[in-house]
Amino acid sequence: MIEIEGLTVRFGGVTPIRTMDLTLPATACGVIGPNGAGKTTLFNVLSGFVTPAAGHVRAFGDDLLALSGHRRARWGLRRTFQTEQAIEKLSVYDNVAMVHEHTGGRRRDRRRDVFAALEFVGLSVSPSAPVGALGAGERRLVELARSVVGRPRVVLLDEPAAGLPDEETGRIGAVIRRIPADLDAMTVLVDHDMNLVSACCEVTAVLDFGRLIAVGPTQEVLRDEHVVRAYLGTEEAA
Ligand SMILES: Nc1ncnc2c1ncn2[C@@H]1O[C@H](COP(=O)(O)OP(=O)(O)OP(=O)(O)O)[C@@H](O)[C@H]1O
Ligand SMILES: [Mg+2]
Repeated sequence: MIEIEGLTVRFGGVTPIRTMDLTLPATACGVIGPNGAGKTTLFNVLSGFVTPAAGHVRAFGDDLLALSGHRRARWGLRRTFQTEQAIEKLSVYDNVAMVHEHTGGRRRDRRRDVFAALEFVGLSVSPSAPVGALGAGERRLVELARSVVGRPRVVLLDEPAAGLPDEETGRIGAVIRRIPADLDAMTVLVDHDMNLVSACCEVTAVLDFGRLIAVGPTQEVLRDEHVVRAYLGTEEAA
């Protein structure tokens, strides 16, 4: 569970998040909203890349903002980024091992934990293959393995399947859906693909211009007339 209170973020004259109160109560949550709504900025606050102007954030009762970004990673906060982070020249194994090291995983557990993460995401390529040699879907699975290696407690996924064809998106979705029960970690998924959000998220929050406009059970939220107008309407009209 993540509890956000009075969160405000300012970048000069821009206020991408305005006095937002939001509780994400379920183990599988979604955050949707149009481009520029503040979704990635919210993830940046949760993971420590952005310091908010005001507000409080608690995750499972712990005050996240009181921890440095580094301590949050050790606490169990993980994320993927809208742009791929894996280093092309390094092997699949080393890319995942690198995150294990940064998140405070013990060296003697590293091999076991990295292989467990690769198996969890169902990556069948050789662990010694350089990431640069992989296809787009496999690279996204490497990003996912990086976000679950070790002992994650909260996994923030920022458009983890963007640009992939439906079949590969389905594969990514199947992995995301297993995270809460199999790894005992909460997932928060940001995506523009409503099929993926419906498949992976029990509860979904909708942001628009830095404000929360709806939150609740995913299917109800996607039917909400304000949400359809603010966001989905443009898709339906297309
Ligand atoms: N470092 C920054 N400096 C100034 N403005 C920023 C910065 N980062 C984001 N913004 C602005 O904050 C707003 C929210 O951006 P954000 O990236 O959080 O949107 P988003 O909901 O993730 O959008 P998308 O769906 O396109 O990824 C936008 O207006 C963006 O231009
Ligand atoms: Mg974004």
